[in-house]
Order: sequence, then C-alpha cells, then structure tokens
Amino acid sequence: MAPRLPTYDALLAISARGAWDPGSFDLAPDRARLPALPVGVRERLTGLLAGFVVGEEAVAEHLVPFGDAAGDPGLRACLAAQVAEEERHADAARLLWAALGDGDPAPHAPPALVALFRERLPAAAAAAGEDLTGAMALYHGVLEGVVFIAGQRAVRALAEEWDLPGVAGVFARIERDERWHVALGARVLADAPDGARVAAGLPADAVAAADAWGPLVDDEVRDAVVAGVSRRLRAIGLLAPAVRDPARV
Ligand SMILES: [Fe+2]
Ligand SMILES: [Fe+2]
Repeated sequence: MAPRLPTYDALLAISARGAWDPGSFDLAPDRARLPALPVGVRERLTGLLAGFVVGEEAVAEHLVPFGDAAGDPGLRACLAAQVAEEERHADAARLLWAALGDGDPAPHAPPALVALFRERLPAAAAAAGEDLTGAMALYHGVLEGVVFIAGQRAVRALAEEWDLPGVAGVFARIERDERWHVALGARVLADAPDGARVAAGLPADAVAAADAWGPLVDDEVRDAVVAGVSRRLRAIGLLAPAVRDPARV
C-alpha cells in the first residue's frame, strides 16, 4: 500500500462527515450584485458556472459504471459515496446557474471543456470494465484533479474579488469534497499494477486539459494546478523525483 494516502475507510469517513445541502445557500445577494459587475467579469463568471453545470452533471452520470467495475468492496463503497456527492454538486451548479445564468448552460461553456465531459469522459466510463485504472486516471486525476481544481480556484477568486457570498460558499463546500475524490483516484492509481505506466501520461494530459477553460482561467492558476499533478504523483512514488537544475541550486 502506498505511503501518505488514506485508506478507503478513512475516505468514507471524510465523506460521511461532509454532507451539505445545496439548497441552503442564499443566492439572492449574488444575484443582486450581478448587474453591477463589469461585463467582462460577468462573462467570465457565466462561462465558469456553465462549465461546472456541464462538468458536474457529466461526472455524476458517468461515475456509475466505475462502481460496477470495481472489485474491492471498499472502493465500491467510496465510489457510491462519491456518486451521491457528485449529484449534490450537479444540483448546486444548477441552482447557481438558475440564479446567475440564463438558458442552456452548454453554449456558454468553452467547447473544449464540453468535449472533455461529454465525449472523452463517456468513452472512458464505457471502457471502465476493461480499464478501471485508465478511467480513474482521466476522471479523478485529470477532470477532477486539474479541470475542476483550476475552475474552482478561478471561481473562488472572482467570488472574493467581487463579493459573491453564495458562490463562494457553494464552491468552498464543493472544493472540500473534491479533495477526497482526488485522493481516492491517487489511492487507486498507487495500488494498481499498471499505475506507474498510467501515471506517466498524466502530466502531459493535464496540460491539455487545463487549457480547456481557455482564458476563463488565468495562466498562473493553470500552471500551478498542472504542476500540482506531478507533485502529487511524485509524493506517492508514481513519478521519478524532479531533476534539480544545478544552475539554480
Ligand atoms: Fe464534483
Ligand atoms: Fe468529485
């Protein structure tokens, strides 16, 4: 078992402690703030929230086959708990969109992001029975560990800068849940016989996936999130340590 990673029981305990109600957030103050936001800020917020509706709905739907493919009862239980949380996130994203968006969210989301969640994810989920490690690397390592984290940081920064308390509150809860989801993916990758081979492809995949948000996510945030993928994989022994540049020592 890989070091520095929680067990399935520990992950389930985190989930059990973290239940929350998407309907409990008052979004009226955020809605009231909307007309006062600069057009560019409003467009950015709209694009990010639309991306989260598309993304959270897709991950909630396509996680179900993963549980069917998992042999370990502990992993199955974690995936079942995660499905419930992803449905909660999808509800929360839809409520935010109902308060702050307009019409069908998909056309407001970046096309590359829509393709990731509506084309690449379903294909990987359909193959989860044959390649659960690869499917979890995409789902937990790339979509949650890169695309969602980058988007969450961008939304949180906007919410703080422009005083949107409902958005900030909802995303704080989502981010908390996503941390254990990403840890679950790392746990599976670390335990899988082909984990190191699958992990070797993740850093490059992360770069392309982070770009799916386009200019909705700042370069600085994108680069930090991408760097976090290699850092996590090194910490659990799935990537070789970074070679230190002697000129910078
Ligand atoms: Fe989620
Ligand atoms: Fe998640």
